[in-house]
Amino acid sequence: MARPDPHSYFEPEQPRTKHVLLDLEVDFERRVLAGTARLTLASASGGRLDLDTKLLTVRSVSGADGRPIPFALEDEQPILGRRLRLDLPKGTIAVVIAYETSPDSTALQWLEPRQTSGRRHPFLFSQCQAIHAREISPLQDSPGARLTYSASLTVPEPLAAVMSAGPAGDGPGPRPGTHTWRFEMPQPIPPYLLALAVGDLASRDLSPRSRVWAEPGTVGKAAWEFAGIEDMLRTAEGLFGPYDWERYDMLVLPPSFPFGGMENPRMTFLTPTLLAGDRSLVDVVAHELAHSWTGNLVTNTSNEHFWLNEGTTVYAERRIHEALHGAEAAALAWAIGEKVLAAEFERFAGRPEMTRLRLDLDGVDPDEAFSSIPYEKGARLWALLERTAGRERFDPVLRRYIERFRFTSITTEEWERFIASELPGIGDTIGMNAWLREPGLPANAPRFAAPTLERLSTLAAGWTKGVRPPADAVKSWGTSETLVYLQRLPRPLAAADCTGLDQALRLGERGNYEILVEWLSIAAVSAYAPAFDRIREVLTTVGRMKYLRPIYTALGRSETTRALARDIFAAARPGYHPMSRRTVESILEKY
Ligand code: BES
Ligand code: ZN
Repeated sequence: MARPDPHSYFEPEQPRTKHVLLDLEVDFERRVLAGTARLTLASASGGRLDLDTKLLTVRSVSGADGRPIPFALEDEQPILGRRLRLDLPKGTIAVVIAYETSPDSTALQWLEPRQTSGRRHPFLFSQCQAIHAREISPLQDSPGARLTYSASLTVPEPLAAVMSAGPAGDGPGPRPGTHTWRFEMPQPIPPYLLALAVGDLASRDLSPRSRVWAEPGTVGKAAWEFAGIEDMLRTAEGLFGPYDWERYDMLVLPPSFPFGGMENPRMTFLTPTLLAGDRSLVDVVAHELAHSWTGNLVTNTSNEHFWLNEGTTVYAERRIHEALHGAEAAALAWAIGEKVLAAEFERFAGRPEMTRLRLDLDGVDPDEAFSSIPYEKGARLWALLERTAGRERFDPVLRRYIERFRFTSITTEEWERFIASELPGIGDTIGMNAWLREPGLPANAPRFAAPTLERLSTLAAGWTKGVRPPADAVKSWGTSETLVYLQRLPRPLAAADCTGLDQALRLGERGNYEILVEWLSIAAVSAYAPAFDRIREVLTTVGRMKYLRPIYTALGRSETTRALARDIFAAARPGYHPMSRRTVESILEKY
């Protein structure tokens, strides 16, 4: 039988690992995790067991009884890494693998003290999605191979460790100056949700089931920004059913974190760029929280079905947004997404097959395939189902979807069969096959209209005819209104127009990264020199790929700004996460 996941050596016919016990020492000097992974099998088994590894040094493999188990670490494959092939003696119940990670691992970023806000202690965080868990532990590293885990992390004092799991105590480590933190994740998760972070961390309680972690200098600001989390949790439960993961804690990372957020169960990881001081960017939290149902409970079987994770979650995020802030506010969020989607179709104009929802990723690195298309196109498919069926009929279907598939991993085809059984005939009505398997956006994609949206679009379209936003209107705009307006302005702009825009909206002073980055993208594509210092500052402090991509791409447009981009990248590169580095490199290569 063909393997179900083109990005893993996982073979469903082989013994299944159901639990991994990690016992690891975090070595900041050598930048490695070293120790053992004990994999427990679902039942006593023998024969071949293939595990995924990447950049791991394997020291030994033995059974529960300590007897060596024959193994072969095969040659490195470009995307998958190295298959670790074990030959299990009959009756094996567990295997213990002694190993260490590599300083070159993409799954881990080791930060110098100066890359943190406190500047006194080093910091470490992991990012396993899409296929980097195998760089932290040998595993059946496919989302179809769920497992529970427990872990002991030994770290240098006075650092603290957190994981995507429940705390299970801590105490003195094996040597003076070390401390060991224990964790337990009793619910089966796909391996990409394994996560850890180590640093000088403090926490604040936000509700009986939620707290936020961050460096001590940031935690107060974070607690204020995310104070509404319990409301959000209750709203989400009202929409999608009970929250199944006991606690919802969050960790605010240093600014090099390459994503806005990552839905690590019980411990969402977040970029500090969300700390705008006005709670205007908490949609990212709504998104990661929504993954607790869509993605973490119901999981894509492989990255070929990634839209099931992200499209469903964007739809869920906007339902939370609507419930909390109303239909008009949600329409603006959809409108912002519409521009993002249009830009992505342009970026993939030469590779239309990558704009399908159901992807064929054999031989394609999921990090390279990453785009907003599964997010925004996928969310629009759900919205179309909602509109076609009517909300009253649709909402119970969404809840039954979660209930039916919770703690499992599914394919697009299974999803399609479920929808056909719940809403008979709807597939033909909406042209389901084209939505799932053809490139581009079908003509029946839902539109999201709102009076504010019309007004802002007309205002922005008038720019070339000399129409400027009235000062009192600008004053009343929130983050979304400003973003919608900026997104819809013509670009490039003449230098005098950039100056006028900056003054009218006081853009250079903005601490809100969504607005700041939209403005700096306009400035970059317009080769507007007065903004170059701010561009340099942002690109050297922040590693969130969503921000790096548009600014570096905009800088690529002209010769002067291209040189600026290369110069900034040379300075910023050492501080970037390996994924951010690769993203910028691939942009600069295309110049
Ligand atoms: N799960 C993703 C992040 C991710 C995807 C990491 C693929 C690695 C591979 C996360 O939930 C996400 O989508 N984050 C977005 C949030 C946004 C859509 C609100 C981000 O980081 O910008
Ligand atoms: Zn997501």
